[in-house]
Amino acid sequence: MSHPADFRLAGVMGWPVMHSRSPRLHNHWLKRFGISGYYAPLAIEPGKVEAALRALPALNFLGCNVTLPHKEEVVRVADRVDPAAKAIGAANCVVVQKDGSLSAFNYDVFGFMESLRAQAPGWRAASGPAVVLGAGGAARAVVYGLIADGAPEVRVVNRTLERAEAFVADFGPRVTPLRWEERSDALAGAALLVNTTSNGMVGQAPLDIALDALPKGALVNDIVYTPLETPLLATARARGNVAVDGLGMLIQQARPAFRDWFGIMPDVTPDERAMMETA
Ligand code: ATR
Repeated sequence: MSHPADFRLAGVMGWPVMHSRSPRLHNHWLKRFGISGYYAPLAIEPGKVEAALRALPALNFLGCNVTLPHKEEVVRVADRVDPAAKAIGAANCVVVQKDGSLSAFNYDVFGFMESLRAQAPGWRAASGPAVVLGAGGAARAVVYGLIADGAPEVRVVNRTLERAEAFVADFGPRVTPLRWEERSDALAGAALLVNTTSNGMVGQAPLDIALDALPKGALVNDIVYTPLETPLLATARARGNVAVDGLGMLIQQARPAFRDWFGIMPDVTPDERAMMETA
């Protein structure tokens, strides 16, 4: 099994994928590095993910990203799954190997950690307790990354407490599950606050939280990037916290994927970042 060297293909599988900004970034990088190829949006119906992934070698694809709602299915289908994807139960990148087998990776973890490091260079997970709002798929990647990077405690605050409690079994005793009603009090002494719920997103309910207990030195990150400046980030910035928007995670996770398929680990230029800011 070998890929034709003259035209290189990758893409993103989602359903629907119309809102993905990834094709913009990968196709820009292909141009920038003079690589002849294309990164395609691939709308794959739920239930057809396995067939679509197995077709990648025959289609001469080097691999693909996988987005909602297929991230869990990929872990079941791939021939090899990296430790992060295994622990999280979700992958967002597939690489077609020379023999046509499929390797799955979770680069959301890299994307999350790297976006914090890029926008707040001095910050370390070991700096202090983290508060994570939400216990869905995005929260799993965030909590995995924080624990792996040495966070002493991760307070997982969720509307459905049982989902937060399950994080203790999955990610260990440094996770403290808390009720949604405790979200404002949970901020005392924290070094990081991350919103992984859809609260604050365009068209969704606002995120109702009081930041009074949050130390001014804490970092505040919102996974939501529509709008780019969520009310949470605006409030955090106004009181002196460093605020990190959610677009960084999307952009940063693309870098190792591009490297795996096309052999170059791209940096992100200010122009590229600006290009990704428009909806
Ligand atoms: P994703 O994979 O993007 O994280 P998800 O798995 O649907 O999406 O998780 C969404 C998260 O937002 C969950 O933690 C959800 O809380 P529940 O586990 O109780 O469902 C949280 N969430 C969604 N709407 C919310 C709201 N109005 N108030 C509080 N939490 C909310």
